[in-house]
Amino acid sequence: MPLVNMRSLLAQAEPAGYAVGAFNVANMEMILGTIRAAEACRSPLILQVAQGRLAHSPLALIGPMMVAAARAASVPVAVHFDHGRDVETIGQALALGFTSVMIDGSHLPFEENLALTRQVKRLADTHGAAVEAEVGQLGGSEDDEEARGMLHSDPEEVRALAEGTGVDAIAMSIGNAHGLYKGEVRLRFSLLETARRLVSTPLVLHGGTGIDAADFQRCIRCGVRKINIATASFLAAEGAARTYAEQPACDWFRLSAAMADATRSNVIEHIRIFGSEGKADAS
Ligand code: 13P
Repeated sequence: MPLVNMRSLLAQAEPAGYAVGAFNVANMEMILGTIRAAEACRSPLILQVAQGRLAHSPLALIGPMMVAAARAASVPVAVHFDHGRDVETIGQALALGFTSVMIDGSHLPFEENLALTRQVKRLADTHGAAVEAEVGQLGGSEDDEEARGMLHSDPEEVRALAEGTGVDAIAMSIGNAHGLYKGEVRLRFSLLETARRLVSTPLVLHGGTGIDAADFQRCIRCGVRKINIATASFLAAEGAARTYAEQPACDWFRLSAAMADATRSNVIEHIRIFGSEGKADAS
């Protein structure tokens, strides 16, 4: 059941009305914890790494580890390249066996985003991989470097991108932000509802950390089928490392296990909210 195309996971989520969690990872402990969570919940999973994090987790090392972990899993796992910025690096991910890639052209004028997304779609098609694109910019930053201002997605552009490219998923900006929210989270659900009436393409919610269960579930009712969680997993692993390091006697292997376990707990919590628990065996 192991390494699968993201397209099939999202297609199964649609009629059943749940979202598949897409969890970012940075090392082996996080990969192990994330996969173990999905297996414990019998949930489908999207395992992802963002291009902006490759300085810490080189693609040539973490990519094969993610693909191998997905192949060995007892639940269906899609391996996804998050926030791809250029065609060359996306090509490297595809060559390593990623079954899904994101091209983030959301900072570009719409016509350029469309052209770049088409180029990536053609490339991904040669590998049989799925493609996620983005319309509208999220606040915050997916790599701590380039913090962007927020630009809400225009549902008409979501339609134009879907029709002009045939991508498998589209990320929208509805007031969500990468990293920790400063102040109250205010999501514009009406943008999802309008986009949903215009396209059948599964919608993606980035910036999951800090959004509460009720808002996640409302997004899912509005057609979101993939939800990205990064910061919450990083904080869980880091917090476990801090707590463990305060103990009088520490060893590396227990520290490693503590980070994997903390990642696992965070992922389980989100899988339950997203409604994908128990859905692996239907896949
Ligand atoms: P958070 O870090 O806010 O969870 O966002 C994750 C994300 O959207 C990765 O693309």
